[in-house]
Amino acid sequence: MNIELLLQLHPPKGTLLHYLKWILSNPIPRIPLYEAVGYVGGVTKVLWHREGQFQTQMFIMPPNYIIPEHTHPNVDSFEVYLGGQISFSHSGYFVIKENTFNKTTITGENVGNWSIVQVNHNDKHGGVIGEHGGVFLSVQKWLNGVKPHCVACDYEGQTMNQQHLESVKYGEATCNFPYSIADAASKEVL
Ligand SMILES: [Fe+2]
Repeated sequence: MNIELLLQLHPPKGTLLHYLKWILSNPIPRIPLYEAVGYVGGVTKVLWHREGQFQTQMFIMPPNYIIPEHTHPNVDSFEVYLGGQISFSHSGYFVIKENTFNKTTITGENVGNWSIVQVNHNDKHGGVIGEHGGVFLSVQKWLNGVKPHCVACDYEGQTMNQQHLESVKYGEATCNFPYSIADAASKEVL
């Protein structure tokens, strides 16, 4: 899905899709006073907005980074690619087909900017970040009565590194750092 398609939709209130449309229609974020900025596994996180079971986090990814495949047991989400060099994976394959590492528009943005990937709580996903780093929004609905906290701490699978492993609050997580690209997209033929 992309932003143009999303803005044509009229999803029911109270749904994650409705929240996603609201977030992307209000480009000035409502960053709270508390928990505004933090770090998880060397990744910078910004608490963009939180209300009830809905939350949006911005993740600023360092250069040359691998997010191994994982799930978030208590979170349905949309990952919105804002810029830089990110290849997201979903269900074992890389999902944004444009050349997300090198193909730019006339203003230097990436052709895939504002691409949106739906990641439900049981969907395996991951990512590879290139040498210029990357930025994305994670737009979330928290499930099972769990109050929103950092999505990277509600985590099943291999964590990004040891520091990340130690921050996981819920889920069966392990760490086998360092990783290869295959760890981010296990069904992809590389
Ligand atoms: Fe994730």
